[in-house]
Amino acid sequence: MKKLHVNVSVNNDDLEFLCNPEDTLLDVLRNDLNLTGTKEGCSTGDCGACSVILDKKLVCSCLVLAAEVDGSSIDTIEGMAEENKLHVLRKIFRACCFTMWDLYSRNFNSGKSSSWKKSKSYRERG
Ligand code: FES
Repeated sequence: MKKLHVNVSVNNDDLEFLCNPEDTLLDVLRNDLNLTGTKEGCSTGDCGACSVILDKKLVCSCLVLAAEVDGSSIDTIEGMAEENKLHVLRKIFRACCFTMWDLYSRNFNSGKSSSWKKSKSYRERG
């Protein structure tokens, strides 16, 4: 099968790669360009794990053919990393959000976990 030649800018680096017509942008980012910060989840455009910024628009890279991005600019999560600095989006996320582990451990340690109480009362009922 004939490979397609694609030129792109990825995280401000001009790159070129060869791909099969059916390869997704996600395939090429992870397997050929070794940008594994872009994750594969559902492969159907539902989860967003594969999100990248393509020509200033957020897209699911699992739904974009690699051959379609010729001449485009792509930003991945790796492009948001600066040496010893957090990208502004990461700072905002860190300031505003917490992980499920934070939620679980806070509730568990304070004894306010509703799921803990439910499971305890379920056991008490026998
Ligand atoms: S892998 Fe889930 S939206 Fe692309």
